[in-house]
Formats: sequence, structure tokens, C-alpha cells
Amino acid sequence: MEDKNILKAVLFDLDGVIVDTAKYHYKAWKWLADRENIYFDEIINERLKGVSRMASLEILLEESDKPYTQQEKESMCTLKNNQYLKMIEVLTPEDILEGVVDFLKELKSNGIKTAVCSASKSAKYIVDRLQLNAYFDWIVDGNDVTRPKPDPEVFEIGYTKLDCRSQESIVVEDAFAGIEAAQILGIKTVGIGDIKNLSNADLLFKNIKEINLNNILERLDFFRR
Ligand code: BG6
Ligand code: MG
Repeated sequence: MEDKNILKAVLFDLDGVIVDTAKYHYKAWKWLADRENIYFDEIINERLKGVSRMASLEILLEESDKPYTQQEKESMCTLKNNQYLKMIEVLTPEDILEGVVDFLKELKSNGIKTAVCSASKSAKYIVDRLQLNAYFDWIVDGNDVTRPKPDPEVFEIGYTKLDCRSQESIVVEDAFAGIEAAQILGIKTVGIGDIKNLSNADLLFKNIKEINLNNILERLDFFRR
């Protein structure tokens, strides 16, 4: 019982948790891989989730024998990102994943702070397009961090900006690298997705609409306020 804390902050990953932009990242990388004649599939793509743009490209290039200069890699990242940006221009509040707004409202009404902690440099743009700004107390994005997940920097900034401690926070993530990052800081984790990709999560749900405070507090050893 003494181990229990009060939950004060929920740190959300964005891509694949709040909105299904993960599918657009995949399509844009697939487009680039096909252009370069590099094999790429959804299994390799799982390893790209949560990691930075350049780290994603490095994983994709493991399938290629051709050496690429740093400059070529930078241009490939730009090409991929331009494709991706075109795809996400169509995002509207209707693309928010089912259950997200209900959970955010529940957190607000219980006085629990929220942040987006994303590796994406487009995170603020996406939150704007989804018209979700009012629900988040802070957004940490790929421009604010120097080290990509699984480095825990993004979450460390998140709970600090919310004036909370790691043990008063939880992380909601769809990426193995994101769960790893949170666990380095001792933050309890809620995985969204499949056990085969997220075996490291403390709690796992198929999708965010299954989450509410009742079904996470007790199971993650938090007291209710
Ligand atoms: C993460 C995604 O949220 O952001 C990764 O899961 C992506 O797939 C990363 O590579 C970086 O995104 P961006 O938009 O800065 O290229
Ligand atoms: Mg994600």
C-alpha cells in the first residue's frame, strides 16, 4: 500500500495513440523505399514507431547495400517528410481515435494534467488540426528533444513541464521504444496495441476506447484522489 501514489499526469504519445498517423508514416516510408528499390514491410515498420525521422531512415537502410552520404540521407528524410506532410493535410477532428476525447475529459474533470510527448516534429501541427489544444497542458515534440525514444528525454521534459514527478505520471504509448523510454524513468506504462509488439507494457489495451480511470488506477497501483 505504501507504494501507491496519486496520479497527477498522463503523458500521451501522439502518432498511433491519439490519431492514426502511423499509417501515413508507413505509406510515406514505403513510397521512399520503393523509389530507392529497398525492401520494406509492416514488420520492419514496427521498429520505426516512436523513433525519430533519421533513426527511422537508418533502420530502413539496413535492407540496402548501397552506401549513402549524410547529405543523401538528409534529402531522403526531407522527401519522406514532404510526402507525409501532404498526407496529413487532410486531418480533421474526425480523425481523433475513438475514446480519446472521453478519456481526456475524464482526466480534466479529475484534475489530472495531460501532455503530448511525441518524437514528431509535426506534433503541434497535428494537435492544431485535430483541434485538441484545449485538452493538453503541454506539448513536447521532436523539435524540443535532442535524443530520440527509447531515450527518455521527451517524457522527462513532459512531466517536468507539468510540475509533476515520474512516479505521479503514466505514459500511454503504441511503440515498444516509447514504453522502454518511460520505464527507464520508472513511469508506469499503458500500451495501446498488440501484445506481440508491446510485451513490455505494464498494462495493455487493444485501443484507447477501452481505457478509463477505473480500469487503470488500481492496476497500476495508484490511489484515487
Ligand atoms: C513518431 C512516429 O511519433 O514520430 C515515428 O511514431 C516518426 O514513426 C517520428 O518517425 C518522427 O516524426 P516526424 O513527423 O518528425 O518525421
Ligand atoms: Mg506512436
